[in-house]
Amino acid sequence: MNTTPSSLKICCIGAGYVGGPTMAMIAKQCPDIDVHVVDLNQTRVDQWNSSDLPVYEPGLDEVVQEARGRNLRFSTNVDQAISEADIIFIAVNTPTKYFGIGAGRAANLEFIEKCARKIAECSQGHKIVVEKSTLPVRTAEAVKRILNSAAKGATFDVLSNPEFLAEGTAVQDLLHPDRVLIGGESKEAVERLVQVYARWIPRERILTTNLWSSELSKLTANAFLAQRVSSINAISALCEATGADVDEVARAIGTDSRIGPKFLKASVGFGGSCFQKDILNLVYLCEHFGLREVAQYWEQVVVMNDYQKRRFSERIVRTMFNTVSDKKIAIWGFAFKKDTNDTRESAAIHVCRDLLEERARLVIYDPRVPESQIRSELEMAFADLVGGLSDKHKKLIDANVTVATDAYAAAKDAHAIAVLTEWDEFKTVDATRVFEGMRRPAFVFDGRNILDRENLVKHGFEVHSIGRPSLAHI
Ligand code: NAD
Ligand code: UGA
Repeated sequence: MNTTPSSLKICCIGAGYVGGPTMAMIAKQCPDIDVHVVDLNQTRVDQWNSSDLPVYEPGLDEVVQEARGRNLRFSTNVDQAISEADIIFIAVNTPTKYFGIGAGRAANLEFIEKCARKIAECSQGHKIVVEKSTLPVRTAEAVKRILNSAAKGATFDVLSNPEFLAEGTAVQDLLHPDRVLIGGESKEAVERLVQVYARWIPRERILTTNLWSSELSKLTANAFLAQRVSSINAISALCEATGADVDEVARAIGTDSRIGPKFLKASVGFGGSCFQKDILNLVYLCEHFGLREVAQYWEQVVVMNDYQKRRFSERIVRTMFNTVSDKKIAIWGFAFKKDTNDTRESAAIHVCRDLLEERARLVIYDPRVPESQIRSELEMAFADLVGGLSDKHKKLIDANVTVATDAYAAAKDAHAIAVLTEWDEFKTVDATRVFEGMRRPAFVFDGRNILDRENLVKHGFEVHSIGRPSLAHI
């Protein structure tokens, strides 16, 4: 067992999906380390201090409850947290820039720079600054320059420690990570951070590299993962055209140990706040360094994902006699994957927008996403680049979107059901009850291939899945 000086104080700037869970886990596993998570968003901080956490993650409530009030604090007191800390994590958002140079591709590093300036302003003595946010390679250089030029006598080491947790499994990913990656120039600073993680993670799983390899490994890992999803989704289109079954193809290729079975689930398209953003960031970097072919290669992963989302909505319209106008469509699931309340870049947003443009009436149900969030995502999907929403689109959403409290209510009187998130509860719905409440033909479009198709067909449904032959009761 490694030891860490008991007086160690950690601060984390950014109490989001990464900052909250990662710091809660450090605090849980290291009761003698003082962990202070700060954010400018008072509402978010209040939620972290309540019993209704801003992030839904299985097992997270227990982790937070164990540590909060003991050695874990959430506050908006950024200056104080920085000034007291030995190690400062930066876990703020790094969204795609939507203005100026690199718009639509480059990462917006405004929040990172503001953090660096704040750290320089509030620090005395020596601090270790850790990049936890996902950043373009060589950002640490800029962070170091800002820290050193704005410092009031303090000195800094900058480390890169990207986060690999996936939403919905964050607690397990943090408890038993495949690896922790730490990049840095100063051996002492790297070792100090290694010792924190080594309290619960085997040493051989803590990899140390140089700064740039660490930064680039994070973008590369997400690019490879997203590429697998786009690859299997590309094959799903070919399966639909040929009568092959994409789940059978995935099983057949996944048993090859060189390919492996994970991340081969064909779907309506990947979502989440990071895959698209990080690939576009990689594309921008490649373009910046004049690597045009490399940029085009990776960009195709996003192009394929857009195609997959659009293909799904087009298939719904085509199958339903080329019109969904004034037809009621139940949307089962709005989060970008199961076991999270996160809807950022969810495929559901794109499919709903396409269907609303076709004048469908949508009744949306998601077990974890509140109505206000669904409406705000749809409004953003119709808004222009600066966030403006026309009256026409506002009326379209208001008149045609209802949010239901369960899957049965959503499907009542519907012409079709579209499954957009793979929530477990959809697998066990009472097919008879759903079918009796629906119009005929009762269409099901399973965008996640999770439903028991044979059973649904027996009940009278017509089922369309991703990359599989359609099935109907004869
Ligand atoms: P998030 O939007 O949920 O949280 C970021 C938080 O930072 C927000 O609450 C915001 O108010 C706060 N913030 C922004 N600027 C601030 C400032 N100057 N001072 C104090 N607080 C500030 O974002 P997230 O999903 O937690 O992602 C954070 C970073 O981690 C991103 O770079 C992302 O790419 C990366 N990442 C995310 C995930 C994930 O699963 N969401 C996984 C791995 C890595
Ligand atoms: C992903 C990575 O898995 C994490 O390692 C990384 O830390 C994180 O991005 C990040 O940097 O933000 P996350 O986006 O939370 O995590 O969730 P994933 O499980 O990767 O799923 C992403 C999307 O791909 C989801 O919409 C999911 O439904 C879809 N997906 C995933 C598929 O369609 N098929 C699959 O086989 C796997």
